[in-house]
Amino acid sequence: MTDFTNDLPYKNPDLPAAERIADLLGRMTLEEKVGQMMQLDARGGNLDELIIDKHVGSILHTSPADLPRAVETVNTKTRLGIPLIIGDDCIHGYSFWPGSTIFPTQLGMATSWDTAKVQAAGRATAEEVSATGVHWTFSPVLCIARDTRWGRVDETFGEDPYLIGEMASAIVKGYQGGAKAGERLAKDAILACAKHFAGYSETQGGRDASEADLSHRKLESWFLPPFERVAKEGCGTFMLGYESIDGAPVTFNKWLLSDKLRGDWNYQGTLITDWDNVGRSVWEQKVKPDYMHAATDAVKAGNDLIMTTPQFFDGAIKAVRNGLLDESLIDEAVSRILALKFRLGLFEDPRLPDEKRIKAVIGSKDHQDLNLQIARESVALLKNNGALPFSATPDKRIAVIGPLADDAQNQLGDWTGNSGQVNWMPDGQPRNMITTVLDGFRQLVPEGCEVVYSRGADIIDLVDDPEGECYPDGQPRPKIGVSARFDQRLLDEAVANARQSDLIVAAVGDVVQLVGETCSTATLELLGGQNALLEALANVAKETGKPLVVVLLSSKPQVMPACVIGTNGVIVDESAADGTSAFMWAPNPGMKGGQAIAEIILGKTEPSGRLPITFPRHAGQLPVYYNQIRGQHGNRYADLTQDPAFAFGEGLSYTTFAYGEPTITNIPTSGTFAADDTVHIEITLTNTGARKGTEVVQAYIGDIVTSYSWTDRELKAFQRVELEPGETRTIAFDIPVADCTIVDSDAHRFVEPGEFEVLIGHSSRRADLKRTTFTVSD
Ligand code: NOJ
Repeated sequence: MTDFTNDLPYKNPDLPAAERIADLLGRMTLEEKVGQMMQLDARGGNLDELIIDKHVGSILHTSPADLPRAVETVNTKTRLGIPLIIGDDCIHGYSFWPGSTIFPTQLGMATSWDTAKVQAAGRATAEEVSATGVHWTFSPVLCIARDTRWGRVDETFGEDPYLIGEMASAIVKGYQGGAKAGERLAKDAILACAKHFAGYSETQGGRDASEADLSHRKLESWFLPPFERVAKEGCGTFMLGYESIDGAPVTFNKWLLSDKLRGDWNYQGTLITDWDNVGRSVWEQKVKPDYMHAATDAVKAGNDLIMTTPQFFDGAIKAVRNGLLDESLIDEAVSRILALKFRLGLFEDPRLPDEKRIKAVIGSKDHQDLNLQIARESVALLKNNGALPFSATPDKRIAVIGPLADDAQNQLGDWTGNSGQVNWMPDGQPRNMITTVLDGFRQLVPEGCEVVYSRGADIIDLVDDPEGECYPDGQPRPKIGVSARFDQRLLDEAVANARQSDLIVAAVGDVVQLVGETCSTATLELLGGQNALLEALANVAKETGKPLVVVLLSSKPQVMPACVIGTNGVIVDESAADGTSAFMWAPNPGMKGGQAIAEIILGKTEPSGRLPITFPRHAGQLPVYYNQIRGQHGNRYADLTQDPAFAFGEGLSYTTFAYGEPTITNIPTSGTFAADDTVHIEITLTNTGARKGTEVVQAYIGDIVTSYSWTDRELKAFQRVELEPGETRTIAFDIPVADCTIVDSDAHRFVEPGEFEVLIGHSSRRADLKRTTFTVSD
């Protein structure tokens, strides 16, 4: 039973946190300390077992009904009343709270290239989450998406370390309400968690959590910079990836944890493992003989919270009793966890669910409006032969076709209620909060304009996994999605509908069973009858001259058929090639996605999204990210071009823009810049079309000759610029020379004196970039 005497020092809010922590630690038994280091899964509802028997310091996946119960259990049934820190995956909104605002996925948000909006999404999410009694989100993901067969590409901000860093910094500020390292979090703020530190995305063949073949140089060059940035900006917690690097699972990886994170970056925040990392080292990676050794090494490596490894409890206690593990190391970890709890003020206010705030903020009108604004910016128009925008007059008929045209839950993507992680939302988020593409058209067309719908094709059929219903650790194994059997009846109905319409909109893509942990895909093709559907519709479009707009609603770039991207260099049905008038990508665009898409097609919103990730023509081209190390023989495969279908940074507007020549306006009198200078570059941008529009002006730096092989160009700055027709504006960038680094073979980052190029323009493609140069002195 909790001792409610208030004169105990750890309960005294007037004392400094360090004093309170020391007092509390002195009162805790070894069992209570080890329990404090554990975060266990609350989905079973067995709160007494977790809180009383295991003394857990943290829980995750707590149902709305159990949130108040958990706090009550601590207060009424534990000796010391140490508050729980309650975390969850609030990945693009509070995924598992019915009626919360579900934004576009991280990849969708990154397509906006709008850091202010992304920060606002983080803020709105924090307001919603903090009202429910959850204190901590396991977000954002800072992994770099390179092998896009990986199932978690949707959770990333794309392929570029700079863009990832900008987006991550913005959303962390939003979540934490601007609180920096060690500062108290406001009542409507939540802790952020940078994950999965580091290199988790560098898979073998796209296979989830496989060993990452990463040198220290590669880590330092591309994978670590976004993490370093948020570590230094005060992101409260870091989650350690599943994978191993150089034979050491990240949980025990000295170079990553001690040398970089705690060493070079002096990170003082709290570390949490990913799901059963400690256990996996025993039963999966088999690098530890038993839980006692795994627990010992995890504590020695500096892990604070151990996620969902119940065996850590006995393992760590045994390790201390057998003299393998010094209890002072447990004290250090527990101190960091308690510091987090004091930082949240949980001892004074456990931040219980607040019914009034829940009613006021969850899914509020303001948040839904913000969601719509972000959704509009998260759609990238990649092809338009002039068919768009389409003018929907009362005499028109629009055929909205495709398996994703009216699929509310799949539009939201992974981490959204019924995406498989929790059991209390079998039907997903409320249907009436979600606008599908079909809904969007129905809402927006004028009276008299007819909107008709055909499904046209199926995507997958779900079959049982032959390996059995559960994984070795007892977690349920999802059914397998196999390409759906072709259905001629669905196709014929869609074609007939298309023939009678003035505009054909086809919404295709992937479904949640093809996305997420353990759901990497071997191919990137549209599955089921979708390619056949698109080809048939393209033939109708070619024959009749009707515009066909293809909308890809997917978790990641997919390989589009020749009827969308012209010849793909492989097998093409020439009859349908290039039969599509327009193509746009909406990476799981959130609850308001359908409205945003319909608005863009109908010209009520100007398209402004830009690709945060490259689209290959074929999975065999992977990896296709733009900033690869230069130098190879030839520039094509014998059987296929290396040119991607759409490159990083690309995206069209309904207007046109013209760039002037870039000018560096602050060249020193010596003619060369020093390492601590900043290069000021200006370029004019003119809207040369007849409509208002937004351009994302992108600035890349290339180091012309490097002593170590390096990429040809890297994004260093960007700006979203909205211009009226005919308007010209001078766009200025300040790029510190200190940012123009390369990394040597020993993984040291440095600026190498010499000549650099500044490349500014519309996308990462050289042909889209204007060039000037500057020199850095020795
Ligand atoms: C495992 C995932 O890798 C991680 O991203 C997530 O935060 C945890 N599970 C908790 O659900």
